[in-house]
Amino acid sequence: MDIQQLKQKFIERYGESKDAIRVFHSPGRVNLIGEHIDYNGGYVLPAALEFGTTLIIRERQDDKLQLASTNMEYEGLLEIATIGKAKTGEWTDYPVGVMVELQAKGVNVTRGYDFLYHGEIPNGAGLSSSASLEVLTGFAIQALEGIENIDTVQLALLSQKAENEFVGVNCGIMDQFAVANGAEDHAILLMCDTLEYKKVPFRTGAYKLIIGNTNKRRGLVDSAYNERRSQCEQALAILKEQRPELGYLAQLTPEQFAEHEGHITDEKVRQRARHVVEENARVLTSVEALSNNDLETFGQLMNASHESLRDLYEVSCEELDVMVEEARRIPGTLGARMTGAGFGGCTVSLVHEDDAERFVKEVGAAYESRTGLKGEFYVCGVGDGVKELKEAK
Ligand code: GLA
Repeated sequence: MDIQQLKQKFIERYGESKDAIRVFHSPGRVNLIGEHIDYNGGYVLPAALEFGTTLIIRERQDDKLQLASTNMEYEGLLEIATIGKAKTGEWTDYPVGVMVELQAKGVNVTRGYDFLYHGEIPNGAGLSSSASLEVLTGFAIQALEGIENIDTVQLALLSQKAENEFVGVNCGIMDQFAVANGAEDHAILLMCDTLEYKKVPFRTGAYKLIIGNTNKRRGLVDSAYNERRSQCEQALAILKEQRPELGYLAQLTPEQFAEHEGHITDEKVRQRARHVVEENARVLTSVEALSNNDLETFGQLMNASHESLRDLYEVSCEELDVMVEEARRIPGTLGARMTGAGFGGCTVSLVHEDDAERFVKEVGAAYESRTGLKGEFYVCGVGDGVKELKEAK
């Protein structure tokens, strides 16, 4: 749906008014490498997608907030005074949670608004549809309230807080950060401890990113995610006895880890920590490879990341493994891995453009015959972070 069609839908839903309609867009994200690293204080390398969530918004003359979506049935209706008073368990908890956090930062919602969201990111596929919705809402309200003193780093942090506290999902900072700070044709190298970041040119020439959605429901993801986080905390507590200055697991180099890992007696906990330390090192090697235009090496690092997530961190699943295996059979594939939290969701592959069509056809057919599920594929470029679509005013 283009902007004009969306505005038309907005008017059909909310009627005409003299107040201006404004349009905002926020991307989804794909993590290129650095998985399960953000809450361990290391480096991640996500990129914003060319598709995401669009918000059509207009102020009202009363204190009501109406939230509707073109792709979700549930509609939210609340008043300014009741923001944050009740959770619904519906998608509107994300925008409402962000309003709670905005208010805590002094950006008050002083008037009513009509919201119409249009989401292009498949929900629950590991491409950060929720982070996109959060950052988009915070950015738009700030602009409409005319208080633009919260920068995109703060916006990412408060969106994460909304998800942690209001929605109740214990995510790290990577997704909101990527969505808020993404830049066309660049990956974001983010140091999750200090939130220092750099836009790294992502020049892939004749190679394309292909995202493959396994369409496997991510059933166990929340409990397993929390379990991995607590195993990392256990490993950190043990290693801190050896190195009291250690703040996060990802501060260790693989060599330093090898020196101390014997103290971690639980094998699973040791494997989780090994993944973190090695994956963090892979991110830095990836950035070096990308700056040398060495896509072969980057592809190999993507492959190693998948193996580690599968064998050491144990957050892959059969569907992800099958899709990755089939992706690597295509001659033009330089690397393929799962992306996001795992247990379903998406893969990301780096594939020569001449093989992209063949990839979608052959990987799709093999995946379906081996798993009984229909995969979906997006050949995509890297887009911008959250912004207002001013030309559409
Ligand atoms: C989810 C979380 C992120 C990050 C990834 C794993 O996407 O929301 O914070 O931890 O999983 O890398």
